[in-house]
Amino acid sequence: MKLMAFNGSPRKAWNTATLLEHACEGAESMGAEAQLIHLSDLYFSGCTSCYACKRLGGESYGRCAIDDDLTPLLAEVEEADAIILGSPIYLGAETGLMRNCLERLLFPYLTYTDGPNIFPKDIRAGFVYTMNMDGKHLADTGLQSRVDLNEYYLRAVYGHAESLLSCDTYQFSDYSLYESDIFDAEAKEKQRMEVFPQDCRAAYQMGVRFCTGGVRQEAPTAPMP
Ligand SMILES: Cc1cc2nc3c(=O)[nH]c(=O)nc-3n(C[C@H](O)[C@H](O)[C@H](O)COP(=O)(O)O)c2cc1C
Repeated sequence: MKLMAFNGSPRKAWNTATLLEHACEGAESMGAEAQLIHLSDLYFSGCTSCYACKRLGGESYGRCAIDDDLTPLLAEVEEADAIILGSPIYLGAETGLMRNCLERLLFPYLTYTDGPNIFPKDIRAGFVYTMNMDGKHLADTGLQSRVDLNEYYLRAVYGHAESLLSCDTYQFSDYSLYESDIFDAEAKEKQRMEVFPQDCRAAYQMGVRFCTGGVRQEAPTAPMP
């Protein structure tokens, strides 16, 4: 089995990356191969609206026609058994890096028909989010809708979707060095020591679960809006 994890944070050793590393370790504990890809290492774009992936009889039908660093990884996802996307929340949404990746991962397989979407098989798909805000404000900020929408698209393409939200993350290595009066550095430290490890365990378990046989969720049948 193979798990591919994509880190949408430009930071390669912070909250999002750490959670994804735990997910990979969970997958490896089940004997699976796990690959952690830092999107910030790649030169790639989002969808360019060329529509080659939708062109009837075209050589790129059902595949993204862009040729850049993401191209070989998109082909590998078709061979994988599970993917986990990880992104910090930036201004109420996943990062631009992750958004560009999502467009390329998902759009080629969504069809403008009443028929099924055309990713070649069902795989496990997860999304791990990290954010500064605490979990109480998810609905007020619209973030819960965003999480739900991403789940909708992941489920539509891959047949499965789960989300893990890691809230109130530690943002700086030393809060005294940055203008950040609204934060209580001690409370942040406590959260990091007591709650973040639980999130890491949940990510590990996601990796384990994704590399174990199990139930498939139903893909939504509604056409792409
Ligand atoms: C440009 C920018 C925008 C951010 N916007 C938000 C936000 O809208 N809501 C939030 O809860 N946290 C926000 N954050 C905080 C990050 O989501 C949080 O620190 C996250 O855990 C960082 O992930 P990383 O440690 O993997 O880089 C923002 C951080 C940056 C740099």
